[in-house]
Amino acid sequence: MSGSTKPLLTVLNGRNTGKKPIWLMRQAGRYLPEYRALRAEKGGFLELVYDSDAAAEVTLQPIRRFGFDGAILFSDILIVPYALGQDLRFEAGEGPRLSPPLVDASLAAFEAVPGRLEPVYRTVEKVKAVLPAETTFLGFAGSPWTVATYMVAGQGSREQAEARRYAYRDPEAFAAIIDAVADMTVDYLSGQVNAGVEAVQLFDSWAGSLSPDQFEQWVIAPTARIVSDFKKRHPEVPVIGFPKGAGGKIAGYARETGVDVIGLDETVDPEWAARSLPAGLPVQGNLDPLALIAGGKSLEKAVRRIISAFEDRPHIFNLGHGILPDTPIAHVEKLLELVRQ
Ligand code: CP3
Repeated sequence: MSGSTKPLLTVLNGRNTGKKPIWLMRQAGRYLPEYRALRAEKGGFLELVYDSDAAAEVTLQPIRRFGFDGAILFSDILIVPYALGQDLRFEAGEGPRLSPPLVDASLAAFEAVPGRLEPVYRTVEKVKAVLPAETTFLGFAGSPWTVATYMVAGQGSREQAEARRYAYRDPEAFAAIIDAVADMTVDYLSGQVNAGVEAVQLFDSWAGSLSPDQFEQWVIAPTARIVSDFKKRHPEVPVIGFPKGAGGKIAGYARETGVDVIGLDETVDPEWAARSLPAGLPVQGNLDPLALIAGGKSLEKAVRRIISAFEDRPHIFNLGHGILPDTPIAHVEKLLELVRQ
């Protein structure tokens, strides 16, 4: 596949283009009325993910409306624990629940159900069949550390304290969880590629809560192993790493994990990143999602600062974290205009 017709894929491969590519994390979601309508019709989030026609439609909604350069598969990072045999529910207004939580149960008691990944591959095939030729198709998974924080606590947790405590108390049992997630993740990403995605992103949303030793052990090492195992199967497919909140540890992450592209959160100074990351390494980010909600002059200023910092480096415009449900659609339109002018 020639990268030249796909600006996002070209930059992911480390080459600059005339057109700056843009997509937004969580671009398929609750800020879109057409998403809310379909979700209400299907009755819930997991129902939407497991209806591959509906999930394909949700993946395409932001492409039709805004013409982003990338379409991200509509699924969730918690499908992997579900396929490992942990029960998954999303209650309205409550967020995800995994049961039993691994603070109370042993991973060894779970029976894996790899078939729970299959409907996601059907979604990929359906999107692929109709995606515009210039749009790059992105797959994704969570990084083992971030996924494990939900598996251990059974839900989102303050400062990820349960998982950090578990990892200090019983590093061997925690390593077994990380390894199981990592193995399933390689299969999951590989299945997405076989079904049609062209690049993948590893979301490590809670990378920022770890001490340096734990960061090395639970973020860098498993990410490096996933990238290496994945590249054995798909040497040509770019991998974006997104170690949210990792701050000064990002430079080490960039050198040691083997990811092809680094996603930056909004706390990272773009000028620091431009100076400190390996020369030529493509970066993605990193507008504050709240600046997008605010709009106006502060949005313009923030966009300009990011674009000018990354003038000399392959750069994909994105937010520093997922778009928030109360983001005005007109501000997304304005952002596209600012980035593309
Ligand atoms: O980016 C996209 O548009 C693709 C789809 C996608 C979703 N989740 C859909 C979703 C992606 C890439 C994710 C990643 C994800 N899921 C992460 C990592 C990125 C991040 O935002 O930090 C995490 C930690 C999860 C786990 C998860 N899923 C939580 C904590 C929640 C509830 C809180 C929330 O944001 O709603 C979800 C639900 C979820 N996943 C929704 C969507 C669109 C909202 C469901 C709804 O109410 O309709």
